[in-house]
Amino acid sequence: MQFTVAIDGPAAAGKGTIARAVADEFGFAHLDTGLLYRAVGARAMMRGRGVIVPAIATEVAKELSEADLRHEGLRTARIAQAASKVAALPEVRAALLAFQKDFARREGGAVLDGRDIGSVICPEAEVKIFVTASDEVRAKRRFEELRAKNPDTRLESVAIDLRQRDIRDASRDVAPMVAAEDALLLDTSELSIDAAVAEAVALIKQRFGKA
Ligand code: CDP
Repeated sequence: MQFTVAIDGPAAAGKGTIARAVADEFGFAHLDTGLLYRAVGARAMMRGRGVIVPAIATEVAKELSEADLRHEGLRTARIAQAASKVAALPEVRAALLAFQKDFARREGGAVLDGRDIGSVICPEAEVKIFVTASDEVRAKRRFEELRAKNPDTRLESVAIDLRQRDIRDASRDVAPMVAAEDALLLDTSELSIDAAVAEAVALIKQRFGKA
């Protein structure tokens, strides 16, 4: 049985939380595709001594293994920025494409969250959801997450990180962040996690019967 749930949206909108809950509910495998770009960004920065060099980033993307995604520390704002920079490079995206496509169509069902899952990676996904929330709500959510790990985190700099990435991610030439035409739009600004997950689960159940 192949069944793909594609969850896209801007930073800190709640994609990851919804994706994990849905994967648990249906027993699907889950891939946080942002981690691919974060891992490439982190390694490329290290090898480039703090600078993103496109040829190095491409090399890193080609060598990436699943074990690289398990590293603690990929969730910082600095690495998020590096991720968004390498994510704008067509060669990097091309190097990560086959792995994501295979994951999406694996047996037993898959949930992938990212920016281009419903539009590029798996346009044939049975369920597509585009998760959004207001800039203020997203900045506050990410601030709380990051502050739990680092008490020096400032709301203002978190908001700037999200804004910069949103603009870069939505305006790049290759696979820009966009809601697929047939995606369900889920605005979580005033929706609890449980309510957002319930909406996603209801849509999947409805489509599951037809798959
Ligand atoms: O968790 P958050 O939404 O802040 O970011 P993420 O999903 O970990 O993604 C980090 C960066 O990777 C994003 O800002 C995008 O530039 C890039 N990305 C992408 O281009 N395509 C994807 N499918 C997933 C992430």
